[in-house]
Formats: sequence, structure tokens, C-alpha cells
Amino acid sequence: MVFESEIIGNCTLYRADCLEVMKTFPSVDHAIFDGPYEDIMHKAKASKRKLRADRGPQIKPLTFDSIDKIRHEIVSDLETLVKGWILSFCSPEGMRPWADEINASSIKYKRACFWIKPDSTPQFNGQGPAMAVEAFVAAWAGKGRSRWNGGGKRNFYTENTNSKDRDGRHPTEKPWRLFVKLLHDFTNEGETILDPFIGSGTTGVACVKAGRRFIGIEKDKKFFDIACERILKAEEQPDLFSKTKWPEQSSFFEKGED
Ligand SMILES: C[S@@+](CC[C@H](N)C(=O)[O-])C[C@H]1O[C@@H](n2cnc3c(N)ncnc32)[C@H](O)[C@@H]1O
Repeated sequence: MVFESEIIGNCTLYRADCLEVMKTFPSVDHAIFDGPYEDIMHKAKASKRKLRADRGPQIKPLTFDSIDKIRHEIVSDLETLVKGWILSFCSPEGMRPWADEINASSIKYKRACFWIKPDSTPQFNGQGPAMAVEAFVAAWAGKGRSRWNGGGKRNFYTENTNSKDRDGRHPTEKPWRLFVKLLHDFTNEGETILDPFIGSGTTGVACVKAGRRFIGIEKDKKFFDIACERILKAEEQPDLFSKTKWPEQSSFFEKGED
């Protein structure tokens, strides 16, 4: 059941449970999403202290269930819907269950990829290395060989979590610049991107910046409203990014910055 829907430019947003509505959708070019993480991550987040010692943004409680019970259904829905790439964010430990589920379908599991967060919180108790990466699965649901615009690029992207224009109202907001980079590498201008778990709408904001069409679903009213607001704001801003050439990874290596 769709509780409400909004069309903003080339973006269509539904407030609904993605498992109920996705089955009724026509096919899309790609699915790029940051769905709920695994049970183990939800439990870890719940047990963290409320105040961060580095004075970074306060850790907010998660108000949605983990991916574990619905991963199978999501993969089987995407198998019929998607014609190109599926990029799904998860914790590094969450890569295995995603790979197993994808390998049991007709979708081709291609690569474990990583988002490196240079501004992530250090391990203040000194008991071991701090976590500075999140992962995403890159899988190809299309016919024939997979194709992308990244040439021989490696499987990591470097982007700070806390940019000046971070919205900050969703507990797991991703940087939209990271998603613009993914859109440039994995998709083409004018294609349609599906995100079944939009949260505060980061994938939609990136689609607006990169000139892609967008279909997004979010079941929580508060986050749906924030997503609509952010996408509308992105639509109203001048399109500075669709023609931007993002730095190649090789230039980081040449300059010795990474
Ligand atoms: C990890 S968050 C996405 C955050 C997003 N990337 C951002 O930058 O704001 C996952 C979102 O999926 C939503 N969600 C969880 N299960 C859902 C479902 N079955 N259908 C639609 N949305 C769902 C949650 O309410 C949550 O906002």
C-alpha cells in the first residue's frame, strides 16, 4: 500500500513498505541503496554511548529493523526489476550474506567495494583498530557482460562523512558526493535509479546533481518528508555537478595522498 507519493522533477518518491510496492514496479536501469544493516550492527549501535568523545554528531538510535529477515525477498524482487547494476551498502561483515544471497539468484556478484571514511571516529579506548570503512556489494543484474564508466579503477571510494552540507537528521545519512561518484562510474545520464530504502533521500539528491531519474521508497513518514525536502532543495539549486569530472584514483596515488 502506498501511503503517499511525490513527484519532484525527475524523482518519484513513495511512502510505503518497499516489499509491498516494488513487485508492482516496471523495470529500472539500476538499484543503488543503503538499506538497513545486519542485526549485529543494529545491536552494536544500540549499545554505544549517547555522546561521542570527539564532539562529532551525536549517535542517534535506529528506528528501523535490520536487513537479515528481508534480504532474500529484496534480492528476488531486484532480480526481476533491475537491468543493470545493484549496489548495496552493508558492513564489511555483511558482505558474506549479501554475496551468498546474490549467488543463489541469477544476478552476478561482481565485487566487494569499500567506502573509506578519513574523518571516522578513532578508537578512543585504544583496544584495537577503529572502523574507518563501510562496504558495498557490486552485482550485475543485466544481460551479457557488466559494463561501467570506471575503466580500471580500483574498488574503493574515499569521502568524508561529515561535510559542511550534511543534513544530519537521519541516523545513518550517507554523503551525497559519494553517491554522485557511484552514479558517474556505474550509470549513465538519463537512466533510472531505484532506491528502496531512501532514508533522508541521499541517493535522490545525488541523482538530481548527476542528471539521473530516480524512484525512491521510504516507509517512515518523518524520513520520507525529509527526503522530499532535500530533493526539492537539490532541484532548486543550480546543476553544478552533472558535468563535473571527478578525480581519478590514479591522481591520488601519483600525488601520494592516499
Ligand atoms: C540505512 S537507512 C538509509 C539512509 C540513507 N542512505 C540516507 O542517507 O539518509 C535505511 C532506511 O530504510 C528504511 N526502511 C527500512 N525498511 C524499509 C522497508 N521495508 N521499506 C521502505 N523503507 C524501509 C528505514 O526507515 C531507513 O530510513
